[in-house]
Amino acid sequence: MQVAPSGPALGAQVALDLRQALRSREVMGALQDALLAHHVLFVRDQRLTAGEFQELGERFGALETHPAYPTVPGAAGVQVLESTPEEPSRIEAWHSDMTFRETPPAVTLLYAQVVPEVGGDTLWASAHAAYEGLSPAVRTLVDGLRAVHDFAHGFRESLEAPGGYERLRTAVAENPPVTHPVVRTHPASGAKSLYVNPLFTTRLEALTRSESDALLAFLCREITTDEYTVRLSWRPGTIAIWDNRTTQHKPVNDYFPQHRRMYRVTVAGERPR
Ligand SMILES: [Fe+2]
Repeated sequence: MQVAPSGPALGAQVALDLRQALRSREVMGALQDALLAHHVLFVRDQRLTAGEFQELGERFGALETHPAYPTVPGAAGVQVLESTPEEPSRIEAWHSDMTFRETPPAVTLLYAQVVPEVGGDTLWASAHAAYEGLSPAVRTLVDGLRAVHDFAHGFRESLEAPGGYERLRTAVAENPPVTHPVVRTHPASGAKSLYVNPLFTTRLEALTRSESDALLAFLCREITTDEYTVRLSWRPGTIAIWDNRTTQHKPVNDYFPQHRRMYRVTVAGERPR
């Protein structure tokens, strides 16, 4: 297994046949170590079935479902994220996956099925590098803070689209706002990362509205500093695997009206602390 870093802050290209890797406990262990070291891994030219992709996700832990996305028939853990001219993707902001949950997913795997000729890249940022880059005084300030995360905030454009509220009403009711620490510690590596994002985080607790707005905007901007980011151009068969506890990502929505279809599995995580 060859691992070539994509950037100093995060990311690595891994040369590997994941179908073969599924049969080797040793290789799967090395893949998990690489994820811990690089936070996001890119594996090109894979030919897994949806079932095998689900199996790959299960090697990282128990799988989760998502309240807003359909799944592949016969592979209930595999969500389909599809953007078409009729139903374009509405998620454009930087985020870590599903921070609106009490226990957001630890790891996400995305597998490109249909990708645009050009465009439709994804960016990742190291929320760990962003935390480490803060001055000690600001680190002390944010270390003790908590933030509110809200599903309805993240999906507000979908909710406002025709039929959106009817489709997502149950999901909104089942996902009331939650709070998480602004700085979370990775349970395996001990790495500290900023854990607020513009998609789901609505405010910082214990601050005034204007303090919260200003500090939240500053922290979100810090995370996405160019030096902390890496960018992937998808090809059919590309698989990305990332740690939601130390990274954020942003889909680049520059390909309308082209078709994009991805498989996703999300691996259950712990309560952020
Ligand atoms: Fe996401």
